[in-house]
Amino acid sequence: MPTITCIGDLKALHRARVPKMFYDYAESGSYTEQTFRENCTDFARLRLRQKVAVDMSNRTLAGQMVGLPVSMPVGLAPVGLTGMQHADGEILAARAAEEFGVPFCLSTMSICSIEDVAEHTTKPFMFQLYVMKDQDFLAAIIERAKAARCSALVLTLDLQILGQRHKDLKNGLSAPPRMTLPVMLDLATRWRWGLKMLQTKRRGFGNIVGHAKGVGDTRSLMSWTAEQFDERLDWDKIAAIRDMWGGKLILKGILDPEDARIAADFGADAIVVSNHGGRQLDGALSSIRMLPHIVRAVGDRVEIHMDSGIRSGQDVLKALAMGADAAWIGRAWLHGLGAMGQAGVTRALEIIRKELDVTMALCGERDVAALGRHNLLVPQGFETEYGA
Ligand code: GLV
Repeated sequence: MPTITCIGDLKALHRARVPKMFYDYAESGSYTEQTFRENCTDFARLRLRQKVAVDMSNRTLAGQMVGLPVSMPVGLAPVGLTGMQHADGEILAARAAEEFGVPFCLSTMSICSIEDVAEHTTKPFMFQLYVMKDQDFLAAIIERAKAARCSALVLTLDLQILGQRHKDLKNGLSAPPRMTLPVMLDLATRWRWGLKMLQTKRRGFGNIVGHAKGVGDTRSLMSWTAEQFDERLDWDKIAAIRDMWGGKLILKGILDPEDARIAADFGADAIVVSNHGGRQLDGALSSIRMLPHIVRAVGDRVEIHMDSGIRSGQDVLKALAMGADAAWIGRAWLHGLGAMGQAGVTRALEIIRKELDVTMALCGERDVAALGRHNLLVPQGFETEYGA
């Protein structure tokens, strides 16, 4: 086992251990992948200001996300098909998150169901909702999230129609995978994954198989989205969902100041500045470049989270310094899960916490809440090049 020192090490193991179809699903953006790439490269363009000879003892990363205490302001973002990266993946990740004191958000398109995750964890988790056309299904899944005492509903607004990811089509992505010859040859080299998968019963879309009607191919994310997701989702429907839910509501997928103003007027508990990890609107600007515009527009009125492109504690620090109240990681924890199951998710969180803590100290800060633009060197044009 190689020494693991950074998320990149977990990523290499993830790639080696998990079937290509699922690794590719995680490590893809839509179409040309421009936005997917720039989410990361734009973080690298931001530089940090070194500050010396300041007392760096007694540092703290703790804070709150939508009023809930967190050991650091970083959540495990909802990821579809997580239980295909590792058997029982959602349960393992939720357990790692609760031990670490950070939120876990379960995807509608998860393999383990809401009830299953609730049964195998001790603290409430968040639930991410995709809005489907079937009103009975919608009402029922909101009730199921309530019954599981989910701590917040994270409503995704940027995926009513799927941005095409070429590799998923080429690989014939499905859950569980169909046993074609290329898949079988690939699985032959991933015996660790296969053995664990044989030992679990959780191999399909646990929240929806048997609950939603009218899907041609129940193994396919593409079919679910094309046949079930409600293309008519608008602010009136969002208001109806808010009323059905009645708890904390986080609106995810806001990338424009105009939409952020509507979300703030709407009274969301938080928004997540996101382009869905570059998986939806290819050609959109990175989240980190759009963030300051949104902070200026609504930062005094609504809690602002961000995701897309965060692969290190340094990236978390940059997001907070650019004005986010909290950050969500997706691929970074998924690499840990694919590499080593629950221990890998914990390792990913430890790596990010350590990087954040050390970087904060070297920037001369002792409290994440004090991070700000004064910690950054922002290249010319970063915010103005496109006049957003
Ligand atoms: C679904 O959430 C996806 O991005 O594939």
